[in-house]
Amino acid sequence: MAESVWGQIKQLTEEISSAKCENAEALEAFRIRFLGSKNILKPLFGEIKNVENSRKKEFGQEINALKALAEQKFKEQQSSIKKQDKASEKNTLDMSLPAGLYPQGSRHPVSIIMDRIIEIFEKIGFSVAEEREIEDDWFNFTAMNTPEDHPARDMQDTFYLKDSEKNLLRTHTSSVQSRVMMETKPPIRIIAPGRVYRNETISARSHCQFHQVEGLYVDKNVSFADMKQTLLYFAREMYGPDTKIRLRPSYFPFTEPSAEMDVYWGLKNETDYRITKGTGWLEILGCGMVDPKVLENCNIDPEEYTGFAFGMGIERQAMLKYNISDIRLLFENDVRFLKQFSSVI
Ligand code: DAH
Repeated sequence: MAESVWGQIKQLTEEISSAKCENAEALEAFRIRFLGSKNILKPLFGEIKNVENSRKKEFGQEINALKALAEQKFKEQQSSIKKQDKASEKNTLDMSLPAGLYPQGSRHPVSIIMDRIIEIFEKIGFSVAEEREIEDDWFNFTAMNTPEDHPARDMQDTFYLKDSEKNLLRTHTSSVQSRVMMETKPPIRIIAPGRVYRNETISARSHCQFHQVEGLYVDKNVSFADMKQTLLYFAREMYGPDTKIRLRPSYFPFTEPSAEMDVYWGLKNETDYRITKGTGWLEILGCGMVDPKVLENCNIDPEEYTGFAFGMGIERQAMLKYNISDIRLLFENDVRFLKQFSSVI
């Protein structure tokens, strides 16, 4: 009897050592047989009383080793099945399935409008000039015929840099005019898109940062008629081929004569009345003939050259085009707002 128990241990040791579970079911069968609550090793522990005294210790060690072997084998088999599963998961990947939908970005409405304006002026030979946003007082004001104490400085509340009376955040893209004129000889034909800053209270209609596109054309014999035709072309490209414009006399320190350009928006509904203040006309930009003093400040001979310039706000045009009622939406970058422009090219 005792001999057959020793034989049984030997046989079970072999069985466990050579066991190979191919799948989760086989593994579970192994667990039940060797580690379950009614496992096959349990009765062996009861046999110890039948073993002769001198070999009781040895017998105890043998069945404990057998149990440990079963536990170790189970763990090994379990992890190899897990690996197998992972590998086969890879193999079942269907590469021909359509890719998942990634959220798509969209262009910012300000960029859309700005790029459109650039495109329109590039068609007629204007090139893009970009300059710094932190500007020297001289380029932003003085060169543009707005010396210190000039009342026109009050028109644009300025952010000066800390501890500096000289450096400021540019209040308009007109500063690019003086930069370019100081560096280049005419003919000059540029547009300057970019961000500008003014110390204004933030509200639905105004912000302390916004975007402008500046235009400058300096050459021999540039006339007011050239300016008018250029701006008419722009308005028709931007707002449709039948767009009407009008130029109203205005004042800017850097142009003489100066004007503001309106486009005819119409008075079809209540909103049109509101945004055009009941006139049907909408102001789009400021413009004029470059003041001879500005040319002189930038070392260009006003006897030889003349020029025209214009400057327009971008946010306002984006708000009109996309019916946006609050300028702050353009700076908050809330994806729920931006997402709406994903189909606009
Ligand atoms: N710089 C002016 C502003 O920010 C806009 C402007 C008006 C620009 C007339 C010009 C111009 O170049 O000729 O209000």
